[in-house]
Amino acid sequence: MNFIDEKLLNYCINHSSKEPEILKELNRQTHIRTLNPRMICGKHQGRFLSIISKIIRPKKILEIGTFTGYSTLCLAEGLEKEGRIDTIDNNYELKKIQNYFFNLSKLEDQINQFTCDAIEILPKLKDKYDLIFLDADKKNYLNYLNLIVPLLSKKGVLISDNVLWSGKVISVNNNNDLETEVLKKFNKKLSNHKNLETVLLPVRDGISLSMKI
Ligand SMILES: C[S@@+](CC[C@H](N)C(=O)[O-])C[C@H]1O[C@@H](n2cnc3c(N)ncnc32)[C@H](O)[C@@H]1O
Repeated sequence: MNFIDEKLLNYCINHSSKEPEILKELNRQTHIRTLNPRMICGKHQGRFLSIISKIIRPKKILEIGTFTGYSTLCLAEGLEKEGRIDTIDNNYELKKIQNYFFNLSKLEDQINQFTCDAIEILPKLKDKYDLIFLDADKKNYLNYLNLIVPLLSKKGVLISDNVLWSGKVISVNNNNDLETEVLKKFNKKLSNHKNLETVLLPVRDGISLSMKI
């Protein structure tokens, strides 16, 4: 969901840097070959992820929720020369499309794929990350937050996706779905977190940008 007028959004997209050709094709293939293509972050958010990563120049990035690898490649654009991105997804059926585009990008040596449940692998990770992108199952966002804050390096940046959840986070009724309830608690926790400074942006479905302090 977008929170601004469609014409204004198109103006923003048309006045942002162009999407690389490989990502255009990955977006096309995602729409042809997957059941839920709208999970892809897409051109506008992709350029946002790319530029944040280029500003940080991270040595290590962690991504939770690879899907077809679109955001992985956007984030990897900013990696330092010897840098690495660890990306986790529990859907092994996506590996074929991920691998095809990771190889095509020539960044495959810098991309480390974990095909497993993020909740199981995160406690086993020992590295510190300069940039973490959280974009997997929303019902686990609070669990993920507890597991990933210790993995962030000092001044490390956490980007959390879909935090406005189509606007449902402002609903006041008591019969919300689980995801909405978790995201409400997640946003509250992020804004009060003693180790994080956060700004919530109404970009696409809501993106929170947090820095470890
Ligand atoms: C919204 S999509 C990610 C989109 C991707 N970041 C992009 O922008 O193209 C969420 C992904 O999280 C994965 N996922 C859901 N639950 C998971 C879990 N418990 N562990 C690992 N991956 C999970 C799904 O298989 C799906 O591919």
